[in-house]
Order: sequence, then C-alpha cells, then structure tokens
Amino acid sequence: MFELKEYTNFIESHLDEIDTPLEPRDLYDPIRYFLNIGGKRIRPILTLLGAELFGMKKEDVIPQALSVEVFHNFTLIHDDIMDEAPLRRNQPTVHEKWNTNVAVLSGDVMLIKAYQLLCKAPPEKLPEVLELFNNTAVEVCEGQQLDMDFESRNDVTISEYIEMIRLKTSVLLGAALNLGAIVAGASKEDKKHLYAFGQNIGIAFQIQDDILDLYADPEKFGKQVGGDVISNKKTVLQLTAIANSNKEQREILKQLHDEKNLEVKIQKTRELFDQVKAKADCQEMMQEYYSRAKNSIEKISVPEEMKQNLLQLGSYLMERDI
Ligand code: IPE
Ligand code: IPE
Ligand code: MG
Ligand code: MG
Ligand code: MG
Repeated sequence: MFELKEYTNFIESHLDEIDTPLEPRDLYDPIRYFLNIGGKRIRPILTLLGAELFGMKKEDVIPQALSVEVFHNFTLIHDDIMDEAPLRRNQPTVHEKWNTNVAVLSGDVMLIKAYQLLCKAPPEKLPEVLELFNNTAVEVCEGQQLDMDFESRNDVTISEYIEMIRLKTSVLLGAALNLGAIVAGASKEDKKHLYAFGQNIGIAFQIQDDILDLYADPEKFGKQVGGDVISNKKTVLQLTAIANSNKEQREILKQLHDEKNLEVKIQKTRELFDQVKAKADCQEMMQEYYSRAKNSIEKISVPEEMKQNLLQLGSYLMERDI
C-alpha cells in the first residue's frame, strides 16, 4: 500500500539538508520560512518514485529530490510576485511578509541552492542530470512569460494554453521523475515514457489547479480564492467559458474583465462559468490527460507491481482539494 504521508515525512525530515546560514537574515529567513510553511512535496516525491521504479532506494536520490523542491519553491516565490498573490499555504507570501526585493533575491539564491544539490549526483550521471535540469528551468521561465503575456490577450486558444501550462508546470513534474530515473540507470526508452507520464499528469495537475483557484474551499486551499479571475488569467475555465458562451454571455465576460469591485468580479464570473458548465468540461479535459498519463506508464518496461506507487500518487493528485 502506498502511504503518501510516509513519503511526505521522508522529504520533510531531510529539508534541513538545504543549507541556509543565519546571516544575512533577510536572505535566508524567507527561505526557511517558505520551505517550512508546508506544501504537498509532490515533485521531490516524484523523484523518489522515479528512482524506486527502477529498483533504486529513495535514500540514494535525496539531494536530487531536495533540489527539485527548492527549485519549485523558488519559482513559487517569484510567481507570487508576478501574480501579486497575498497568500500561499495559508500564510503571507514572501513579498508581502518582507518585500519584493527580498523575495527576488531569496528566490535567486534558492535557484543556486538547487544547482548545488543537483551537483551531488554521481559524476557519471551529472551531464545528463544538468542537461535535463537546464532545459527544464528555461522552459519554466518560458511558460511563466507566456502566462503573463496571456493576461492581456483575448484570443488565446486552448492549444496555446496547453503549451503554456506544459512549460510552466508539466516539464518540472516530468523532470522530477526523470532525475530519479537517470540516477537509477533507467533505459532511454523507459525515461521517454516516464517523462510523458509526467507531462500528462502535469497538464492534468495544472487544469485542476486552475479549477481549484476559483472553486476550492478557502479554509483549506491556502491561496487566495479567485486570484486568477482578479488577474484576468487565461485559465482553462476562462477559455472554456468563452468557448461555451453565447453572444450575450461573451459580452458579460468582457465587462467582467474590467470590473473594479473584486468581490463582484469573482462572484459574477463564477455565476457565468456555472451557467455555461465550464467546470464540468474542464474536469473532463483533466481526465483525458490523466488517461494519457496512465497509458504512458503502461509502456514502461518494469513489472506492474513496481508501478503501483506512481499510479496511486497520480490518482491522489486527481482527487486533491488543495
Ligand atoms: C503550485 O504547486 C504551483 C503549480 C504548478 C500549480 P503545488 O500545488 O504543488 O504547490 P505546493 O508546493 O503543494 O504548495
Ligand atoms: C504557477 O502557476 C506555475 C509556476 C510557479 C511555475 P500558478 O500561478 O497557477 O500557481 P499558483 O496557483 O500560484 O500556485
Ligand atoms: Mg500564481
Ligand atoms: Mg502564476
Ligand atoms: Mg494557480
């Protein structure tokens, strides 16, 4: 039986291996703060599972797993500046608690910490590990820029959206898995299928993230509910709602784009999304990518029982409410 909690605890028990000196306080306090206020630890768990899938012990890929988590948290600190997000994991974001300069530099040093951890990989694996990580880091930035560009565009297509979330979110899930697989010595073919699993589950994960942004229980969610609506993000809900709307409804959406009263904006947008059944269609799309992910995993040449943990993590991700 896969116990997610066991893996989460395992990662959390190793977080102090991320070296953060005491001084300068405004550089390192935010890192300790952000890493310790929680998070699901999905990506480092994927690295552990990627290694275990090919017979390696999770104890042997700890630096790579931590590297992925530090990198992810760096992207979140900068993402919160870009999205003007006040809350993360039920706590104030770094730029709110300190200021934007602090959030920029603490984030920068976390990126470097991620590389330091990555460099602990066995020397013969390092070129492949670095190539994967470098490509991934560049792609995440590309996805983040597209996400920002889309805020001021009204003609974003679903396929452009999918490519944007593949870059900003999925490639990191794929890379997290493959870092484990590389260290464990998986074949090229298996790494290809594992990466495809990561990409597809990542797309489903971001679709779910977009849905939760508007529909989650604010008590549990830990982020500002409706943040994407406030920023005019071209989320899957927004694009689906536009596609499902008649002329009149499209006009309402256009007016809501410029609505200054944010509570009204969120409330009315949710009403319209409900009218046009946007959420149900998005959930269907999410299921489609989840199925593709499961297909990719089938192609990996290890015994079925070795795949069970990964499949269970996938199923947990599809049902999450935070
Ligand atoms: C948030 O990721 C950013 C996205 C790509 C949607 P998570 O939902 O994994 O955030 P934490 O680490 O659990 O807080
Ligand atoms: C963030 O996407 C993706 C990255 C941080 C690269 P979101 O902006 O949707 O993530 P949340 O909702 O703030 O966690
Ligand atoms: Mg954000
Ligand atoms: Mg964002
Ligand atoms: Mg989001």
